[in-house]
Amino acid sequence: MRRIGVLTSGGDAPGMNAAVMAVAKAARSYGMSLIGIKRGYNGTLCMGGGADDMIEMDLDTVLDIADQPGTYLRTARCLEFLKPEMQMRAANNIREMGIEGVVVIGGDGSYKGAQALCRLGIPCVGIPGTIDNDLAYTEMTLGYDTAVNSCIDDIRAIRATSRSHDRPAVVEVMGRHCGDIALKASAGTGAEICIVPEVQWSVTEVADRMSRLTAGGNPRLTVVVAEGAWDSMLPIDWRRILKDHGMRVHDDDPISTRFLTRVLRCLTGTEARTTILGYTQRGRQPSAYDSCFAFESGVLAVNLLRNGIGNQVIGVKDGRVFFMPIEDALKEKREFNLTLYNTINSL
Ligand code: ADP
Ligand code: F6P
Repeated sequence: MRRIGVLTSGGDAPGMNAAVMAVAKAARSYGMSLIGIKRGYNGTLCMGGGADDMIEMDLDTVLDIADQPGTYLRTARCLEFLKPEMQMRAANNIREMGIEGVVVIGGDGSYKGAQALCRLGIPCVGIPGTIDNDLAYTEMTLGYDTAVNSCIDDIRAIRATSRSHDRPAVVEVMGRHCGDIALKASAGTGAEICIVPEVQWSVTEVADRMSRLTAGGNPRLTVVVAEGAWDSMLPIDWRRILKDHGMRVHDDDPISTRFLTRVLRCLTGTEARTTILGYTQRGRQPSAYDSCFAFESGVLAVNLLRNGIGNQVIGVKDGRVFFMPIEDALKEKREFNLTLYNTINSL
């Protein structure tokens, strides 16, 4: 192969730039040129007008951004790319640029895009760039470790102020429909309650545990809520609880973490406070783990393409970087660490 491409797609994740740096270094070593495809699959469709869609990567620039958060190539969610005729156009554009293989850095959606390109004759290798850790075939996704570290730093700070005021904190973390960030952030900070989409929960049970902990001498407890936790919540008339406690409620108030805190305050009589950690989890400098994983996977991706092995994704198994076919990877079923979850919520 003489020329390959690289793109980042979906939500950005810490370590994406480091992976691009590794791809660039490996490509240069093997005498291949590297094209950076901008804004995810938008770039393959030349949606930026052509001039800024597929650019020759300059190794100096790539070396400068390797330790930076975010993604130099930019990222996007490209809905046009879901259409088969657009995928065909993208494959043609890629071929016209002389690109013979593409490294796709993103989550499961981006992998489906890579699969579509593979079917159209463009070999692709995927690197699991997402903070969510929601890809079953790999123990870790790129950016997850940094996101967990970020949450742990922030929750420690929140627990310091909770301690000063002897009051509970309710903290929302990201992860889409996956509770892994919430789980590790809880374990890593000693948070007393963890709520995730994978396990059914009820507001009254959470309130009961808070009351028991408070009565037992721990009023400055932390409840960590995964943003997707509403998927597994037992239905309950939250508005009725608030109204019964004399609170003003709008019938169109959406269920949210702030809303949950209000209900918990009513049920427990505590002064719980809410923090939504949000995008801080995505915008951090990659951790040591993510930087190393990015390096190994970037180099492996280029090696695979160079050896004519496409249609693969890279991941971690038993702590080691490995690869497997996209097709099989996307079929695997995630296993949630229920033992850790039960430990956090029962001690
Ligand atoms: P992530 O890659 O982080 O899971 P998304 O699910 O938003 O993020 O997917 C990123 C992009 O991948 C989408 O905007 C789209 O361009 C492409 N994509 C997602 N699903 C498919 C699909 N079924 N077929 C082709 N492309 C897809
Ligand atoms: O997939 C990464 C992620 O940060 C999820 O945790 C979150 O649900 C989503 O992206 C937010 O997406 P957006 O950047 O579109 O707000």
